[in-house]
Amino acid sequence: MSFLRDKFANARPGEMILLQVEAIAFWLVGGLPGIIGYTLRTLAYKLLFKRLGGFAWVQHGVTIVHANRLSVGADLGCNTGTYINAVGGITMGDCVLIGSNVTISSGKHPIDGESPHVFARPVEPMRIVIEDGVWIAAGAVILPGIILGKGSVIGANAVVTSDTEAFGVYVGAPARKVRSRRP
Ligand SMILES: CC(C)(COP(=O)(O)OP(=O)(O)OC[C@H]1O[C@@H](n2cnc3c(N)ncnc32)[C@H](O)[C@@H]1OP(=O)(O)O)[C@@H](O)C(=O)NCCC(=O)NCCS
Repeated sequence: MSFLRDKFANARPGEMILLQVEAIAFWLVGGLPGIIGYTLRTLAYKLLFKRLGGFAWVQHGVTIVHANRLSVGADLGCNTGTYINAVGGITMGDCVLIGSNVTISSGKHPIDGESPHVFARPVEPMRIVIEDGVWIAAGAVILPGIILGKGSVIGANAVVTSDTEAFGVYVGAPARKVRSRRP
């Protein structure tokens, strides 16, 4: 019981209920293929996201948690296997493209000190901002608190540990700028 008391110290009952509603709604529409799937997911996201400005080209098999803290501009592309956790708030601009098996998580686990165990600690929220026209390629990980500058490109399997410049191309772990996008 002390584990649960520590872990959910800051949780509010309304938020816990909303998480359950979101989980069931996304389970119902999350696996549907084709245009019917895209359309029903877009409708569900319009209801449950903080904001969705356009159509969500989100493939089946994408996991989204804390959708009420996720704000998305006009149109979003996202491929299968991606995990988005908006516990700390995530803001995406227009026309963001996210590849398959990407992780974008806006909550940090404090690690210093031996007790309590990391799993038992409340998550520290850290907002992520993804500006207009960013492309995050397959398998990349975006750490909490990061700002991805307008039009930046994150290469496959990169781990982004610091903010990116507008129209920069970043690869590797930790991600480093290799060049700017050519005009
Ligand atoms: C990031 C990316 C778009 C860059 O493409 P590019 O412009 O053709 O890359 P460049 O040839 O200019 O690469 C520049 C350097 O970065 C390296 N590099 C490129 N992508 C890399 C990656 N994902 N990880 C590590 N290094 C990478 C190249 O080897 C090159 O290094 P070098 O100068 O030492 O030879 C591309 O490499 C990539 O990762 N694409 C993702 C594809 C994908 O996941 N598609 C499906 C998702 S929608």
